[in-house]
Amino acid sequence: MARLVIRGGRPLRGEVSISGAKNSALALMVAAALARGETVLHNVPHDRDVMTMADILRELGVKAVFVAPHELHIDGTGLKTDTAPYEAVRQMRASFYVAGLLLARLRRARVPLPGGCQLGSRPVDFHLRGFEALGARVNIEYGYMTAEASRLAGTTIFINRASVGTTINLMLAATLAEGTTVLENAAKEPEIVDLAVLLNSMGARIRGAGTDAIRIDGVDELHPTEHWVIPDRIEAGTYMMAAGITGGDIVLNNVELNHLRTPVGKLMETGLRVEAEAPGRVRAFIDPHVRLRATDVETAPYPGFPTDLQPPFVALLSVADGTSVVRETIFDRFRFVDELRRMGADIRVERDTAIVRGVEKLTGAPVEAMDLRAGAALVLAALAAEGETQISGVELIDRGYEEIEKKLAGVGADIERCEDRDGQGGSNSGIPHQGIWQPTPSG
Ligand code: EPU
Repeated sequence: MARLVIRGGRPLRGEVSISGAKNSALALMVAAALARGETVLHNVPHDRDVMTMADILRELGVKAVFVAPHELHIDGTGLKTDTAPYEAVRQMRASFYVAGLLLARLRRARVPLPGGCQLGSRPVDFHLRGFEALGARVNIEYGYMTAEASRLAGTTIFINRASVGTTINLMLAATLAEGTTVLENAAKEPEIVDLAVLLNSMGARIRGAGTDAIRIDGVDELHPTEHWVIPDRIEAGTYMMAAGITGGDIVLNNVELNHLRTPVGKLMETGLRVEAEAPGRVRAFIDPHVRLRATDVETAPYPGFPTDLQPPFVALLSVADGTSVVRETIFDRFRFVDELRRMGADIRVERDTAIVRGVEKLTGAPVEAMDLRAGAALVLAALAAEGETQISGVELIDRGYEEIEKKLAGVGADIERCEDRDGQGGSNSGIPHQGIWQPTPSG
């Protein structure tokens, strides 16, 4: 178990490099395994979820090897089993994507149900209905979903609630189905477009990704390719907020500002300035004498305000001048607010809405990261707080923020990682980052 120890109150200044998008990489890794032959993925973030997905793919017989810190080679030639490993899949919801892979390649998938998580009940009923619509027989037994099909046949599928994961899983399955599949009310997230770009460069025939109707003309097989993962918009948004909450001035490299229009608009309402300096290079800064201002926000599917930035944004609003109203429409995701309260935040939650009354200052406290983005919220609060904050549950933050303590220290934060095992301080993410990456058992 590790903790982050942060002594707050320093305005962050300097440059930080944004990693490839975790949520894109997870889908792309599985998509690459649809082909026989080695696909090269560049700009893959070296975070825990990516490691978990690599482990799962290897257990299925797929080659998944980092040949450089951010260059991952995937080869689906050796795919040999239709059964995904129970523990790993239970830990990470995105691992349910292997269902689409197995169904497409082997016409049979046995995948554990991912179950609930800190974000509340997270069913996969839309995924299952989609597989059935493609012609699979789906059963739930002994904690596993089993889907079987003698042939997958394209059809029109209406996806409820523009689900990201469902859109990805059905794109994976439909790519190698017979005939044409149309996904209606599809998710429009940039990660969906990234997946379509990869699949098309592998020989798939997908049109309309990024709109709510995606048309997939099935092909017989795919071939390997080379692809660069898009920048992580959630990580970028988090670092922009780190500049805002500390009264700092940060230049972010490897950012796609087009993917961040709504959150950037909201950040500007609080007084943060966000300016494109050059392609991929963005400056986020605030006049240190100006206090952040309150604003209201509601999360929504892309291009709306992302639910994954809601917790860090609540942290930022907790020190803004005035009262903000934040409505969460995607997940049950306000449990982290109790931890922010320990730090002096004044936040009341009523069902899906948080009423945030900005306080003059936060103070350091021992707190716990309950999930990835809750952890990001606590890190931001700690950076602004007076005194020392100790954040436990850092492994959850590592799921989606690559080298967070190194990146923040690089822009002047007083932050270190302490391993609780020996009680000694020191920075050690537990994930090897240099040279050739060696597979390790991951969480
Ligand atoms: N839903 C169902 N049934 C389903 C699928 C979804 O009821 O079969 C519901 C969900 O419970 C939720 C809504 O539909 O209320 C939307 O969920 P969606 O399927 O879009 O979410 P997801 O695919 O499980 C991805 C990201 C999340 C991100 C959401 C929303 C990945 C690996 N995960 O999850 O990212 O919050 O989309 O944008 O891409 C994170 O990175 O911290 C994270 C949680």
